Amino acid sequence: MHCPALPDGFDFTDPDLLQSRVPLPEFAELRRAEPVRWIPQSQGLAGFADEGYWAVTRHADVKYVSTHPELFSSTLNTAIIRFNEHIERDAIDAQRLILLNMDPPEHTRVRQIVQRGFTPRSVRALEDRLRARAEGIVTAARARSGPFDFVTEVACELPLQAIAELIGVPQEDRSKIFDWSNRMIAYDDPEYAITEEVGAQSAAEIIAYAMNMAAERKRCPAHDIVTTLVAAEDEGNLNSDEFGFFVLMLAVAGNETTRNAITHGMHAFLTHPAQWDLFKRERPATTAEEIVRWATPVNAFQRTATQDTELGGARIGKGDRVGLFYASANHDPEVFASPDAFDITRDPNPHLGFGGGGPHFCLGKSLAVLEIDLIFNALADAMPSLRLAGEPRRLRSAWINGVKELRVTTG
Ligand code: HEM
Repeated sequence: MHCPALPDGFDFTDPDLLQSRVPLPEFAELRRAEPVRWIPQSQGLAGFADEGYWAVTRHADVKYVSTHPELFSSTLNTAIIRFNEHIERDAIDAQRLILLNMDPPEHTRVRQIVQRGFTPRSVRALEDRLRARAEGIVTAARARSGPFDFVTEVACELPLQAIAELIGVPQEDRSKIFDWSNRMIAYDDPEYAITEEVGAQSAAEIIAYAMNMAAERKRCPAHDIVTTLVAAEDEGNLNSDEFGFFVLMLAVAGNETTRNAITHGMHAFLTHPAQWDLFKRERPATTAEEIVRWATPVNAFQRTATQDTELGGARIGKGDRVGLFYASANHDPEVFASPDAFDITRDPNPHLGFGGGGPHFCLGKSLAVLEIDLIFNALADAMPSLRLAGEPRRLRSAWINGVKELRVTTG
């Protein structure tokens, strides 16, 4: 089975690819004709062997890889970032200490500790404060007289406040977390001009900040995740490097992803007015999951084969890189009826936007869903007649399906 539709040199990790053609038509071709396809590669994607990678595009195969960590390891980096003149292998190697890049049993040990901060109870405990925040954000945006940028005025704010509440960052330091996490994710976008130095410096600053907080919580415990993690460190279950990198990861994972889900959700509503009307009338509880499926804010992660194995008719060799394209799996017609339709009543909705269901499944899912629900409820109440005032400006990245600017207006 060979898929003739891909031109020579075509590469799913090209950061320009997601600029305008989402969902990529090439995903549909591959799902149909060659669901696990070898992509020879010359650009040097971070962590991928320079000679290429397997593109996994069907829902069932993405799920299989995600749920078999013994066959597909995470330790050789899972992020989809290209090496370029600004970012080199050593910088990526340092990320081994991040939860996402661990395999069992280390992963199991660290995850068991950090998930103590993400129990349904701790997320529920944030709900009232986050609802008030969401309403405040929308009220401030409504006060604008002309068109405004939905990304900076609305979508950025709630994820930042939520993650800061969870970690326990005081109000006056919250913008620092925001700047650091922004600087760390936009490697491929020239507008942000992120050099390796700036990225590494931001990482070091977040880690130093986390260490300071830890020292303070040891002296004076509070009701936040840092206090929980510091206790685990004292019990000898979590070392201080793991602690610093976990806070770093939360700052990035909690901010960018949810912000883009909210922005894509708004764009989807404004380009599908019947769905916006339906939401305003009925507020279906299935809405947030459909936004995450339809837009898939995290386009892909990668794994490395630990042994020769077979997948979707392809023979994968030990050491081969495997790209898990959630953006493709979430539009797989084998699983979703009318997969390209935006339907907020879709139920069931077994999408893979939060991962393929294995040990790395998104730890922040319930918090993200809560944030999306709260912000769209606030928008539907206070700004029901919002309209688009321009086309979205997209982030240049093959990893994060991001939007930098979305101009909207109530006028
Ligand atoms: C992991 C997506 C929000 C924390 C992941 C993964 C995806 C993802 C695709 C990888 C899963 C895998 O490899 O199987 C998203 C999306 C979000 C979101 C689309 C918003 C719409 C959040 C939030 C937080 C968070 C709000 C924290 C406050 C994490 C953590 C992991 C993770 C800690 C790593 C888990 C592990 O390796 O064990 N997320 N995420 N995420 N996410 Fe999220």
